[in-house]
Amino acid sequence: MKLSANIWSAVVVVGMVLFSQCSPYAGKSVLHFFFDGVPENDSTSLANVETNGIPDDSTGNSNETLAFAEPEGKIHYPFGEGECASCHNEQALGTMVEPQPGLCYICHEDLAEQYSYLHGPVAGGYCSACHDPHRSANEKLLRITGDALCFHCHEAESVLGNEMHEGLEGMLCTDCHNPHGGEDKYIFQ
Ligand code: HEC
Ligand code: HEC
Ligand code: HEC
Ligand code: HEC
Ligand code: HEC
Repeated sequence: MKLSANIWSAVVVVGMVLFSQCSPYAGKSVLHFFFDGVPENDSTSLANVETNGIPDDSTGNSNETLAFAEPEGKIHYPFGEGECASCHNEQALGTMVEPQPGLCYICHEDLAEQYSYLHGPVAGGYCSACHDPHRSANEKLLRITGDALCFHCHEAESVLGNEMHEGLEGMLCTDCHNPHGGEDKYIFQ
């Protein structure tokens, strides 16, 4: 199984590189977890923060305005409240008060306490590979929705070629698999 673990690492790195092509914004953040040398953006004010394709308010200020104008857009509560310091070191915005997943567990329930087996990227603390820590146009702050999220790291050909996955038309990966964890390595719902 050593070999398969190596293959998975490669698959994940490929996935991350793919993520990096979605937008320069997301890419830089994800790459940061792999290569400490990638410089952080030096923006220090909300006005400079990318908005995931949502046009910035022309006055250049106020989250509330954006939230109000775009009720379908999801804003992570602490970001919307301007509580940047709950995650970022105030002296150096590019550094976090704690690495993930601990950063997220400051406020959220520890997923390791909920599941006996954790999905690889959850165990590894790559929460922000799937969730945008600030805002997203998608439910649950997801960067990508549906099966495409899974296929960013898992090779479609290999997954769909598995006899376990015959005749899945009309089903979502998450109908059977939990994105965070489960009772065993197959992380069933
Ligand atoms: C819930 C935790 C959290 C909060 C609250 C938060 N951030 Fe972030 N922020 C992150 C994480 C994690 C990253 C690392 C990039 C990633 O993984 O997407 C990041 C990255 C950034 C970056 C680098 C560019 C980028 O987006 O990758 C900037 C600039 C930034 N945050 C600004 C802010 C500002 C300004 C606020 C307050 C309005 C804020 N953040 C609130 C977690 C948070
Ligand atoms: C300072 C507290 C705090 C931190 C740190 C924090 N969150 Fe949250 N998060 C909240 C609150 C408050 C909510 C809204 C209430 C809820 O749904 O639990 C929320 C909601 C969410 C949601 C659900 C959003 C929705 O639309 O239903 C996700 C996903 C999420 N957070 C992911 C993360 C991730 C990933 C991290 C770490 C990068 C993180 N959070 C760190 C406070 C926090
Ligand atoms: C492989 C992608 C992936 C990773 C990695 C991931 N999540 Fe999620 N997360 C999801 C998906 C998909 C959902 C939506 C599940 C649903 O709607 O049933 C979700 C939902 C959530 C929610 C909302 C739960 C709710 O019931 O509303 C929170 C909070 C959350 N994740 C936190 C985290 C934290 C903290 C981490 C890292 C320790 C993490 N996630 C890592 C994919 C992921
Ligand atoms: C950020 C990359 C990433 C994303 C996105 C992702 N996965 Fe994974 N997945 C992994 C890694 C890493 C492993 C662990 C592989 C290992 O340890 O052998 C894994 C393992 C699994 C396994 C267990 C397979 C095994 O043989 O151990 C299943 C099932 C799975 N993922 C389903 C999903 C589903 C469903 C989604 C979409 C909701 C998803 N994954 C999204 C990276 C990812
Ligand atoms: C109908 C339920 C079901 C659905 C839907 C489903 N799976 Fe699976 N998946 C399984 C079963 C069953 C296994 C095999 C478990 C075993 O071998 O004991 C499995 C195994 C896996 C594995 C590990 C073995 C492999 O093929 O590499 C991965 C990764 C995986 N699924 C990802 C996905 C992804 C991604 C999707 C969405 C395209 C998906 N699954 C949809 C039931 C499902």
